[in-house]
Amino acid sequence: MTKAILAENLTKRFGTFTAVNEVNFSVFRGECFGLLGPNGAGKTSIARMIFGFSPLTNGKLLVFGKDIQTEARKIKAKLGVVAQEDNLDPELTVKENLLVYATYFGIPPSAALQRTTDILSFMDLSAKINSIVDELSGGMKRRLTIGRALINQPELLILDEPTTGLDPYARHMVWQRLRQLKEKGTTMLLTTHYLEEASQLCDRLIIINDGNILAEGTPSALIESYVGHSALELETDNSKYTEIEHWCSPLLKTSQNIGNTLILYSDQGQNLVDRLTTFLGNNRLTPSYQRLRPTNLEDVFLKLTGKTLETGDLQSDISEEGGYYHGKA
Ligand SMILES: Nc1ncnc2c1ncn2[C@@H]1O[C@H](COP(=O)(O)OP(=O)(O)OP(=O)(O)O)[C@@H](O)[C@H]1O
Ligand SMILES: [Mg+2]
Repeated sequence: MTKAILAENLTKRFGTFTAVNEVNFSVFRGECFGLLGPNGAGKTSIARMIFGFSPLTNGKLLVFGKDIQTEARKIKAKLGVVAQEDNLDPELTVKENLLVYATYFGIPPSAALQRTTDILSFMDLSAKINSIVDELSGGMKRRLTIGRALINQPELLILDEPTTGLDPYARHMVWQRLRQLKEKGTTMLLTTHYLEEASQLCDRLIIINDGNILAEGTPSALIESYVGHSALELETDNSKYTEIEHWCSPLLKTSQNIGNTLILYSDQGQNLVDRLTTFLGNNRLTPSYQRLRPTNLEDVFLKLTGKTLETGDLQSDISEEGGYYHGKA
């Protein structure tokens, strides 16, 4: 069966600036594929080329086996698009927004009305059916944008930061609905800079930074291959960090020194704690902070780029804030 998306050497330049640099990836039918990266990584630039909004500078891009550069019309009929910026018609009602959108796909009025009712119920917006969009909260508008993308019953749903601006309850509700759509067979391309969102929804993902793919795989395979299962965070006399890394090296997968925090990664968390305890005792060191925790995609990203995902901060900035992991882990 043809792939949902095939990107080969996909490149986007704005003038001399390269936003997407010879990127290669495939999305299989029925999967949720993630583009994970910080602000400016090139996620939206990739998404916009896929939904035919932005011409390729170079490379090849097939959607359901069709070339986006020559068959955009046929492709668009199968796509649902949730752009990063909401582009609802603010002066129309919730219902009118969906009905007008349905006309772009040539959906007959009676079917459009039925789908509108079903979608608003699915997205928990039935009570707002006759409200003017301008009067909705930001989170409701985002849910309506997602609902509107379903009007043509798309085979491929492109979601560019679908839950940015949503409160935690609304975010979980959207995740649940997206999982339901996936169970029904909808393929999804999801861009996000929330690692939790990528972990919850994506079967496979690419991590991108500055327009380049740094890694590709399932969330668990990425975690396993780059950082292992456990992270031991430690704060103590940082002049000893190199010695500590050396002492722990038989158990280490890798390590990171972020400002004053040393993070030791291992598949043998408890053995690592025991080995470190011996070192600390021998050297009469008392850590001001120590924590063993499971690893996550954030660790993978940090390992690959030296940046955090949600802020894109560099390591030096993180330490000034007193340690990323204390504030947000
Ligand atoms: N129309 C444009 N003209 C010039 N540069 C652009 C244009 N659109 C995007 N860029 C640049 O391309 C790079 C990638 O932008 P893009 O919007 O794809 O990033 P992103 O990963 O979606 O980021 P975010 O998480 O902030 O949405 C950025 O450096 C951006 O400034
Ligand atoms: Mg973007």
